[in-house]
Formats: sequence, structure tokens, C-alpha cells
Amino acid sequence: GAASKGEYRHFMLKEIHEQPAVIAAALEGRLGERSVLVESFGPDAEALFGRVRQIHIVACGTSYHAGMVARYWLERFAGVPVQVEVASEYRYRQVVVPEGTLFVTLSQSGETADTLAALRFARERGYLASLAICNVPGSSLVRESDLTLMTQAGPEVGVASTKAFTTQLTALMLFTLALGRVKGLDEATQAELVTALRGLPRLVERVLALDTEIEALSMAFAEKQHALFLGRGAHFPIALEGALKLKEISYIHAEAYPAGELKHGPLALVDSEMPVISVAPNDELLDKLKSNLQEVRARGGELFVFADEGGALAEEEGIRVLRLPHVHEALAPILYTLPLQLLSYHVAVLKGTDVDQPRNLAKSVTVE
Ligand code: G6P
Repeated sequence: GAASKGEYRHFMLKEIHEQPAVIAAALEGRLGERSVLVESFGPDAEALFGRVRQIHIVACGTSYHAGMVARYWLERFAGVPVQVEVASEYRYRQVVVPEGTLFVTLSQSGETADTLAALRFARERGYLASLAICNVPGSSLVRESDLTLMTQAGPEVGVASTKAFTTQLTALMLFTLALGRVKGLDEATQAELVTALRGLPRLVERVLALDTEIEALSMAFAEKQHALFLGRGAHFPIALEGALKLKEISYIHAEAYPAGELKHGPLALVDSEMPVISVAPNDELLDKLKSNLQEVRARGGELFVFADEGGALAEEEGIRVLRLPHVHEALAPILYTLPLQLLSYHVAVLKGTDVDQPRNLAKSVTVE
């Protein structure tokens, strides 16, 4: 049943391994031959999307990181300006809402107090409409929003969110392509991304097959007090999510920075006790990253790089490279989330923490 761990030691591990199936479920019935079916967002979506001039995305925790990725996608493929904010800040400031703004909430549970309060606050502020991307049908957020898209991840028990996040990202790419379609995104790009989305569950399976290698990497973290995650562009939020996972379940202090900011502060922290994890799916990034990596190496820092299998980066003393299958570059944030989930999971198991129920945290924060 839904609440059984089956063959897995923890719910979190089970939920990580469910990702090929639930990403496929999130795509099910929503893809046409060469484009996303806009009606997946409801019968009025097409007319409404035509009127969208900007988007405000509001969420908490892991869901907020999904929103940060979506900003890169929506501005690039739909050409619509996007703001992303944590709900606990959004709901207490004097938000300016330009005409034609769509309000979007992201939530696994649909019951997070701050996100729900943000939606209620937004309803009084003249937004065009509200869209909830959510995993729980019938939740408060779903009931109170004008449009909804369910993430289809099934019940998530582990407090550290895994499959809910990757299905949110999948749903957000669907949203990007649906809005893009209405806003005139060229057909070739739509078709290319739809094909890439169809292939995603298989690629996710291939990343899960790297589990033993990732488990081997985890040994290097178990004794550490701190870790630094680096990413650029849409992979900066993935670095943030990687750091959050490590904090949540292994209690190791972790921070994430856009790689270009390394020299503006965090480099001062780097030494042999501070492992640096870099999410680097493409060569353009790798070129820029290489000089950052040298700076890290020069300070004795140990580097762990998640990179494309076709990439040029070689392993050398102090640099471990884990190669991932090649993926459409726009979908890489989804694929590169997986090794970071597995890494945190194995570090937590090594440390003997309560993986599914980390101290001081709740699955759903329904009070402020
Ligand atoms: C809690 C959970 C997180 C989750 C966040 C937002 O902090 O522990 O895993 O990301 O709430 O929850 P939501 O249900 O709104 O996505």
C-alpha cells in the first residue's frame, strides 16, 4: 500500500526510486505529438494564458527551489517576467501587482500555512488568476485556486521531499511549454522539449542505477561539518536543493552559491575540511567553473563534480567526477537533482540519523 516501505529501508529511498514512474505519471495525458496540451490546465487556460504579462511564484522549502528553477524556464521559453519568493516574506510585504499578473503557488501538501496565507492575501490584490501546482487533490490550496495542475507523485512520507520536487519541476516545464505555446514559442523548440520530456523517465532510471557509485562518494562526507554546493543558472537552485537535503537529513551544515560568487566570500571557508559539490551539466559552465575549481583545489578543498558523460572534465587528484547520461540541457535540473538526493540519503544513513523523520522538522508546516 501507499504507506508501506516495501523492499526499501526508508520511505525516502523508496520515494527516490519511484521517480521514473511518477515523472511519467506527471506527463501522462498532457503531451500532444509536438506540444503540451494547454487544456491540461483547465478549459479556460488558453484564453487566460494569453492575458498573462508577468508571474509571481510563491512557495516554501523545497517547493520554493522548484519555483526558482521555473523562473529560468519561463523567462527563456515563454518570455514572461517572473518573480519568485518564499511565502513567509511575500505575505507580509506591500507587494506591487502589475496588470496581467498570474499568481502561482507550489506545494507538495497544499496545506503549508504560509503558502495558503499568501494565496488568500493574493486574492485581495487584483491578480489575473491563481494557479496551484500541488500534489494533494482536495487540499486547501487546490480548493482555493482558480487553476490547478496536480503533480501526480502519490503520497510522500519522507520529510525530506524528493519525488514531489522532481514532479513539480516536470509540471513546471509543462506549464512553461503551455504558456510558451500561447505566447508564440517556436514549434521546433516545443517539439524538441516534448520529445526530451518523454525520454526523461528512462534517463532518471539510468541515474538511479549509479546508486552504488554515489554511495561510495558519501563516505567522504560522513565526518565533515560543512559542505558547499555550487551551480550556475537553473542549476543554482538545484545546488540550493542539494544543500537543503544534506542539512535536513544528515545535519551537516551546507550552503549553496552560484559558482560565480565563490570568490566573493565563500572561498574564504574552503579548506580540506570543506568538500565542494558542483552541479555542472554542460561544457559552457564547465569552462567557467574550471578556474573556480582550481581555486578550490589550491586551498586543499576536495571537489565532487556531477557532469555530463560527454563532458571534458577529467578526474584528477582531489577532483571526483560522477558522469550522468546526456540530457536535453533545459531538463538537466531535473536529472541532476537525483544524485544529490542519493548523496544526502547515503550520508544520513552513514551518520545514523532518522532519515524519514529528521529532528525538529515536520512534513507539513500547517501553523505559522
Ligand atoms: C516542510 C517540509 C519540506 C517542504 C516544505 C513546503 O518544510 O519539510 O519538505 O518543502 O514544508 O511544503 P509544501 O507541502 O508546501 O511543498
